[in-house]
Amino acid sequence: MASGENPTLYRRMGGYDVIAGVIDDFLGRFRSDPKFARFGMGRSLDSIQRARQLIVDQMCALAGGPCLYAGRDMKTSHAGLAITEAEWRANMEYAAAALDKFGIGAREKEEFLEIFRKYKNDIVEKP
Ligand code: HEM
Repeated sequence: MASGENPTLYRRMGGYDVIAGVIDDFLGRFRSDPKFARFGMGRSLDSIQRARQLIVDQMCALAGGPCLYAGRDMKTSHAGLAITEAEWRANMEYAAAALDKFGIGAREKEEFLEIFRKYKNDIVEKP
């Protein structure tokens, strides 16, 4: 159950709106960093919004919320993007900053970042 003595990360973070807000803030940091411009080039607004929604769905589902992730696996969806270690580090910093902005507690912040970390080897291709 989502309530009781062991509430899910989803509940402890504050539910869907908070998770969606964290992801939007996180993606906003990406978009305003020129180092990440190559990832937004040539993509329609709809494609960008679709990817945003899939990330929200994925994090909502993995945090124990009532969402379904219907996207591709992380290796398939990032293969060929040549994502580097440095880009990964910036990605983690942006995620941490977004979580801080929403006042997410230390335990929840760590659990959220740990979900991201588990995908690192599927996402990063270059040293
Ligand atoms: C340096 C870090 C990252 C970069 C540069 C990046 C970049 C991208 C790009 C460009 C796409 C669109 C691919 C396409 O439309 O073909 C994408 C899709 C996606 N990314 Fe990332 N990503 C990063 C990290 C992450 C992380 C940490 C997560 C969450 C665990 C994530 C979740 C997703 C999801 C769910 C999609 C959509 C998958 C689908 O279309 O089925 N990404 N990413």
